[in-house]
Amino acid sequence: MRLVLIGPPGAGKGTQAKVLSAKHNIPHVSTGDILRAKINDESSEIGKKAREYVENGKLVPDEVVVQMVEERIAEPDAAKGFILDGFPRNERQAVVLDEVLSDLNIGLDIVLYFKTSTKTIINRLSGRRSCPNCGAVYHVTNIPPKVEGKCDLCGADLIQRKDDKEDTIRKRIEVYEAETKPLLNYYSQKGLLREVSGDLNVDELSQVLEQLFLSLNVK
Ligand code: AP5
Repeated sequence: MRLVLIGPPGAGKGTQAKVLSAKHNIPHVSTGDILRAKINDESSEIGKKAREYVENGKLVPDEVVVQMVEERIAEPDAAKGFILDGFPRNERQAVVLDEVLSDLNIGLDIVLYFKTSTKTIINRLSGRRSCPNCGAVYHVTNIPPKVEGKCDLCGADLIQRKDDKEDTIRKRIEVYEAETKPLLNYYSQKGLLREVSGDLNVDELSQVLEQLFLSLNVK
């Protein structure tokens, strides 16, 4: 199964990618997670370059992100499939992805578009809390941790992402509309696009996705 997840910030792409990754035993490749890990690593040159872009809701330069993804999908665990979350983010990245996959003699199975209302996006992003230690993601009301402010998995203090501030959220939505949304047309023309509702709760959406995979015979 080789999937791409597309949708606005806060649509729940990362949350579903984690569920799918565990269920289908394929890696979840999130460019946002990789960039945040590099930003937290003070010795990383990529992290130094990426910080200003990520914290201000702008796209990190294509060459940085493309190289990261190329390296990640060449790793052995990605041979049986992968879930790309947050990549590609513009047409240039999509074209390069096609070239990379074609060199490997493989292709994408589905591009899932998480169509999500603005009300949901704002609610999800303003309530998101993340674990800086293990990467688990919660929501203060939708998916609360067992103990307020603490990660269920490793006990670390949960944090709010720097780019989940109101003005940065607005910028991220603008960038999504201008740069990423045109990819819907790109993938629709290739017959790969499937739309699902990002407004559903986690279990409902997860069931919709499994039904979709069954109907398309994607394993
Ligand atoms: P990235 O991390 O990819 O951010 P994003 O696309 O804006 O997506 P989010 O992580 O905000 O949301 P999500 O859809 O994964 O939602 P989540 O599951 O967490 O990118 C960050 C930055 O990195 C970019 O702005 C850019 O600077 C840079 N970058 C990344 N990729 C790049 C690229 N390819 N090129 C250039 N730059 C790049 O859920 C959100 C909240 O809702 C959580 O609290 C969750 O618990 C809750 N929730 C999730 N699903 C549900 C549900 N179904 N019901 C109720 N609550 C839910």
